[in-house]
Amino acid sequence: MKKNIYLCNQNKNTMTTVDISTKFLGIDIPSPIISGSCGLTSKVENLLEMEKNGAGAVILKSLFEEQITFDIQKSTGFLSNFEYSESYDYISNHVEGFEIDKYLSLISNAKKALSIPVVASINCITYSNWIAYAKKLQEAGADAIEINFMVLPFSPDTSCEDIEHIFDDTILALRRSISIPIIVKVGKYFTDMSKFMHKLSWSGIKGLTLFNKNIDFDIDTEKESLKHTSILSNNTALYDTLRWTALLSGKIRCEVSASSGILTGDDVVKTLLAGAQTTQVVSALYGNGIEYIKTMNDYLKEWMSKKEYNTLDDFRGKLRVKESVNSNFTRIQFMKHYAEIE
Ligand SMILES: Cc1cc2nc3c(=O)[nH]c(=O)nc-3n(C[C@H](O)[C@H](O)[C@H](O)COP(=O)(O)O)c2cc1C
Repeated sequence: MKKNIYLCNQNKNTMTTVDISTKFLGIDIPSPIISGSCGLTSKVENLLEMEKNGAGAVILKSLFEEQITFDIQKSTGFLSNFEYSESYDYISNHVEGFEIDKYLSLISNAKKALSIPVVASINCITYSNWIAYAKKLQEAGADAIEINFMVLPFSPDTSCEDIEHIFDDTILALRRSISIPIIVKVGKYFTDMSKFMHKLSWSGIKGLTLFNKNIDFDIDTEKESLKHTSILSNNTALYDTLRWTALLSGKIRCEVSASSGILTGDDVVKTLLAGAQTTQVVSALYGNGIEYIKTMNDYLKEWMSKKEYNTLDDFRGKLRVKESVNSNFTRIQFMKHYAEIE
């Protein structure tokens, strides 16, 4: 890969060489800024726009496990025991044709059009026969697969072990069926977050995406019903991303791709200082347009030039939580702040 090198003018009239190229899941990429999985990454023309504006890689919109299951059942003419009624309603009413075929075309068309890595994404909730289809994504040309695995432990009958087994079994089965790198995207609902993320990182995956965003609901007091909240992140979403990136990166066996609440070029710098290998952006692109990737890249280069950093490794992880150091990232109680508030 051609190095992403820039010569930046500094106040002191010197030239600093700034190189923002890096690796993602072992693959060379021109920038740490990656277009995260979302509706925008389901069209090749958008993907080209992302590459043109300097995205390091693109993660395609997820293929949902239920879509795969639905296609399997439709093709075998056996729909009666479809398990997920909510998904069934959505898929049968809104989705035409065979989604898997459309997704495979998206991957192969994206691969023909782009030179940056194209990552396929599967949104899953169970360990089941959808796993056999991951191989098709690899054969269509995907450079890696992101598994979006978000489980809300709302049922008193489900233990954390039950949920963790789903992860373990799925990753093992995927590793047996595909050879491209696997990155696992998780939510925040783990009682043993640190321990389990360490364990996951030793399962043969190449990366962890911290974190997926919940779909949250508010309550409309007039109608006495649930209402949707904004699907886009606000900047408070960044703080858990920073905390857990700083706590886990450099200590777990795989890389961290920061996700959620990264809305500006300065936020990108923060995630790198916390130790992220790469940074995924979604809401920032919905809010400002795809060309905002260039603005974020430019900010990163200017910041590095100002600080006289030549490469990302010169400052990546500077604010990681070191084993021996008592970091504010390990605190969540605010006794000191209470004391200061009148
Ligand atoms: C409109 C929209 C669609 C999304 N679709 C997906 C998806 O298909 N698969 C997935 O893993 N994440 C999906 N996400 C979540 C994003 O990839 C990302 O994790 C989340 O938006 C947090 O990042 P942000 O703060 O930069 O928006 C979607 C987000 C948005 C806003």
